[in-house]
Amino acid sequence: MDKFVIQGGNRLKGDIYVSGAKNSVVALLPATLLLDVPCIIENVPDISDVKICLTILEELGATVEKLREGTYRISTVDVTSTEVPAELARKMRASYYFLGALLGRSHRAVAAMPGGCNLGERPIDQHLLAFESLGAETMLIKKIDNDGTAYIDAVELKAETLYGSTVSLNVVSVGATMNAILAAVKADGTTVIENCAREPHIVDLANFLNYMGAHISGAGTHKIIVEGVQKLIGNDALEGSVEERTYAVVPDQIEAGTFMVAAAATRGDVLIHGVIPHHMKDIAERLVECGVTVEEVESDDEVCIRVSVSENRRLRPTNIKTEPYPGFPTDMQPQMAALLCIVDGQSNISEQVWEDRFRYVAELRLMGAQINTTHDGAIIFGVPGLHGAKVKACDLRAGAAMIIAGLAADGTTEITDIHHIERGYSNIVEKLRGIGADMKRISED
Ligand code: EPZ
Repeated sequence: MDKFVIQGGNRLKGDIYVSGAKNSVVALLPATLLLDVPCIIENVPDISDVKICLTILEELGATVEKLREGTYRISTVDVTSTEVPAELARKMRASYYFLGALLGRSHRAVAAMPGGCNLGERPIDQHLLAFESLGAETMLIKKIDNDGTAYIDAVELKAETLYGSTVSLNVVSVGATMNAILAAVKADGTTVIENCAREPHIVDLANFLNYMGAHISGAGTHKIIVEGVQKLIGNDALEGSVEERTYAVVPDQIEAGTFMVAAAATRGDVLIHGVIPHHMKDIAERLVECGVTVEEVESDDEVCIRVSVSENRRLRPTNIKTEPYPGFPTDMQPQMAALLCIVDGQSNISEQVWEDRFRYVAELRLMGAQINTTHDGAIIFGVPGLHGAKVKACDLRAGAAMIIAGLAADGTTEITDIHHIERGYSNIVEKLRGIGADMKRISED
């Protein structure tokens, strides 16, 4: 089994670069199915979820060319299939974006129920509500498991025509907001999506589609308006031309936040490049409450974030409540918990998005953390330090928390189940070694 081995105790120091956002690129790649011309996407992170998305595109009939590291030319013009291969769909949560994109393109889509991190119940009722609001018919394909219990194995969507309409989401959902946009972009008429999520990746999807010719306004607010268009060809002037549009994926807010917390936990001094500072506001505020110095610094015409803590400084506790953007991201909750294990005093975490995002607590306890969990939260009693241990990455961000704890701990930490981490962090070992981490990846068959 592959694992990361970390020798803790090094202060992280130096420059680190953020990759393109996982939760954006996993929507942009399916969105290429809506285009009537090829396009080039840059700043694509080297993560396993991207590999799965690209394989799905190829299986559907798209042409994917890697032009250089992180840059792909994608042409979906010859795609005829409307069925996402089940094994691939089950490998990641974001495979549900192929439903919205294929429905928008071909008025038919079939995909197995998505996989991804186990964070408790992960329904897709709001996605289906969006599709149905636009006139699609939903069929849930059921199967019986070994215990005789029926479960939903796959979803089939069909529509004669998609009509612009009002989509009133009952829950603020990133995925359902993205899927509503994907399905509405080429619908007949105007769609109004209400109670939208506002995450940076939603704005990125809208920017990408608009750049290719869509008419989407309001992304980043609670109400998004999509005026349906017939073709997405870059712009009218490009029709028939060989010129292709190039779009760069937005920087990953959560990867940047993970580096910020790792710098704080190791009492480091790290300059984070390729970050959008206003995406980091809430994370920075919580770190400052702990006594961490967080500054915006200009470096080579770019605004970076510098995170530093003087070597022997003790940090203070803080309280965290996860919320949809612009609140504190649930995807930073485990990493922040790892830091709060080693501050002076008691911190409270309230998890408002996922019902089961504390499975990492048992692993942190193996390293000496003192944490009590409640039905939707955790109380962390800071200890002077953690010690290395053999732990596992229960899911993607839980794995990031284990890395942070391992970097800050005394002794050696071995992290197994690292495939979860590699779903979402590009070249994590190389990047952290570049700022002084003693960390290696060991492959064992
Ligand atoms: C996205 O998941 C992210 N995944 C998650 O990233 C992230 O934790 C989450 O948004 C919240 O920010 C991707 O972007 C691929 P939601 P998503 O729909 O879209 C409920 C990571 O570590 N809900 O915003 O699946 C749901 O149960 C991860 O990178 C419904 O009730 O999340 C949850 O309580 C994991 N019905 C809440 O809404 C639905 O149809 C928010 O979920 C959909 C969601």
